[in-house]
Amino acid sequence: MAALNELKEQAIEILKSNDMGGYTVPTHGLYPFQWNWDAAITALGWMKTDESRAWQEIDLLLKGQWENGMVPHIIFHQQVDSYFPGAKKWGVEKALPTTAISQPAVLASIVKMMTEQAQDKALAKTALARILPQLVEYHHWWYRDRDPENSGLVVSYHPWESGMDNSPAWDKSLAAVPPVDYSYTRRDLDHVDSDERPHAKEYDRYLYLVDFFKAANFDSDVIYRDCPYKMYDVGIISILHKATKDLVELCRADASQAEHVATFEARLKLTETAVQSLWNEEQQSFLNQDAITKEQFPVLTTGTLLALYGELATTEQAEKIQTVLRDWLAITPYAVSSTYAKCEAYEPQRYWRGPVWLHINWLLALGLATYGFEQEQQQLKASASDLIHEAGYYEYFNCETGAGCGGDAFSWTAAIALHWLL
Ligand code: DGY
Repeated sequence: MAALNELKEQAIEILKSNDMGGYTVPTHGLYPFQWNWDAAITALGWMKTDESRAWQEIDLLLKGQWENGMVPHIIFHQQVDSYFPGAKKWGVEKALPTTAISQPAVLASIVKMMTEQAQDKALAKTALARILPQLVEYHHWWYRDRDPENSGLVVSYHPWESGMDNSPAWDKSLAAVPPVDYSYTRRDLDHVDSDERPHAKEYDRYLYLVDFFKAANFDSDVIYRDCPYKMYDVGIISILHKATKDLVELCRADASQAEHVATFEARLKLTETAVQSLWNEEQQSFLNQDAITKEQFPVLTTGTLLALYGELATTEQAEKIQTVLRDWLAITPYAVSSTYAKCEAYEPQRYWRGPVWLHINWLLALGLATYGFEQEQQQLKASASDLIHEAGYYEYFNCETGAGCGGDAFSWTAAIALHWLL
């Protein structure tokens, strides 16, 4: 078992070795660009060793922001062939190529944390003044383009947008998307065992959606009308909700942005009411719902638990979720598995179908603390800590054996360890 200091040094070393001169790749080879929520979380790790580098991570992520406010899920800062689908396949013709979807909007929450924990307050103040208008535009984009009918629930158009790509929560909706009819070469399997990655049937549909966005000229109205995959994703909704609450506080403290407070507060209220339609009494949980067919999926995942992080559950609902979570923690020994082991589609080692992700466990721990569930919070933190002590800094971990899975020397795992566990 590695000593604490040694683990800290290793984590900092990982950030440095993944640093591409201002942005951090999640891991070399498998993910050779800058990812949206990875960058935000990785910045928290940089805060522990180099604050100016942490702010730079956010600046470079926001360099990829679209004119309409979207912050894309991947920023292709350079051409690298070890990943598919790259910039060419996405077909976004901009000076800085990106994908055409976003990712869970944890960014504003993390920027707020960074300003609070900054030692260099002057640096943080200048950085925030620069970044805040871009965060405001990003959140307006979510509500305007992803909830154009003001329902209170934003939609997501791709499993990659959820950040929980291969979750069984999307299986049925993704199966309704046509597969592509051409062959292609996946690059992820050059880096990771196939039993830890999605199957071909999922990739065929991921690519169909990529082609669809391009054929729609990335037009938000056309995509909203015609996209064959539209999901009310509890994870995305909850993370956005918490981030909007944090953004409101940041805007209140800056006179130049205060005009946005009322609009965001109205959105918060709308979501708090609308999210109740996703509550399922039988499952004692919020559930993801297909926004086209309106079918709810009784698949409990860490995404559905994130309603606690989003502070969207009533006290009574939170207690019901706590009961489910106790059972969840009792079945699988390591932290909170990404899919509840009682679900049919659960697999302890396959991407988002069972393994443990540290950053999600950290978000859950924050949610548990909000609701006063101290014991579960401590339990989760202790077993998350066991994972890095026993296996190191992998992308994710087998929730039954604790073995490292996916990419090694992984930035967000190192960053969350520095921020939360060490
Ligand atoms: C991948 O390619 O697996 C990524 O998770 C997409 O964001």
